[in-house]
Amino acid sequence: MQQKILVIGSLGQVGTELVMKLREIFSEENVIASDVKAHEDIIYEGVYEQLNVLDKSRLFDIVKKHKITTVYHLAALLSATAEKKPDLAWDLNINGLFNVLNLAKEKHISKIFWPSTIAVFGSNTPKKLTPQYTIMEPNTIYGISKQAGERWCEYYHNKYDVDVRSIRYPGLIGYKSKPGGGTTDYAVDIFHEALEQGRYSCFLKENTTLPMMYMPDAIRATIEITESAASTIKIRSSYNLAGMSFSPVQLADEIAKYIPDFSCTYQADFRQQLAEGWPQSIDDTHARKDWNWKPEYDLRKMTADMIHNLQIVKTNV
Ligand code: SER
Repeated sequence: MQQKILVIGSLGQVGTELVMKLREIFSEENVIASDVKAHEDIIYEGVYEQLNVLDKSRLFDIVKKHKITTVYHLAALLSATAEKKPDLAWDLNINGLFNVLNLAKEKHISKIFWPSTIAVFGSNTPKKLTPQYTIMEPNTIYGISKQAGERWCEYYHNKYDVDVRSIRYPGLIGYKSKPGGGTTDYAVDIFHEALEQGRYSCFLKENTTLPMMYMPDAIRATIEITESAASTIKIRSSYNLAGMSFSPVQLADEIAKYIPDFSCTYQADFRQQLAEGWPQSIDDTHARKDWNWKPEYDLRKMTADMIHNLQIVKTNV
């Protein structure tokens, strides 16, 4: 049966690229984009529905109207924004998920993708090659909400046979859309500032190593896990996923290979503390074994591609 896909949060950093890729694969009419923003903000063609995922009845109507089978539920507040708006973050990140999980429990849809994060780990978690199963004591609102979400996903799978799949995204880097509200977002801002100003003031300390991933890998992982046979998905909370790991100074040095005069300074703010609770690198053995995950981009390859593409984007503006 032809899948009909709904992407919730389709104007965000992941959603923007995911909609484009899904439409390439499944054709435009089978992929419905939706976001809380009004129609004027849409940056792509094709069917778009304005949707606040907390509005259960509108969500239900859209699912029925388009005969949706699969939902990619991406709408969430990220780490830095969540610290500033804790109530909204909990409400959106948890109740938004419930609304989608319940659609599957009641058999209105058959499959869900929902992303988790490296922020589900905390200061007591081993920081290097963080295992799939380990101490998880998140100390950010974002991490707490996503860890609770992971437990609910597994519960809905075990109890109600809900086919939900999830990966713990590392920090995501891409040139097609701007991120918003994350701690790892410095790794995107730095490219824009390097190309526009030749300098960047980083809000994390220079040696803060974090797990990161280039967007083509993240989009591929997202679609691969969702398209894998259900029997291969052994973990129904969320899979560890690794791409690369680097610190701000390592990224700055790599960028300086293309922009020799580039200078980066470091002025840590409240986000430093969030980053310090997170892993430095991730062990993603289970994803590799269960659904054949393999990243393609390392720091060198990602930087080359980012600079190349952003130069094209910026000269065409
Ligand atoms: N990229 C997220 C953030 O910084 C962490 O997963 O909020």
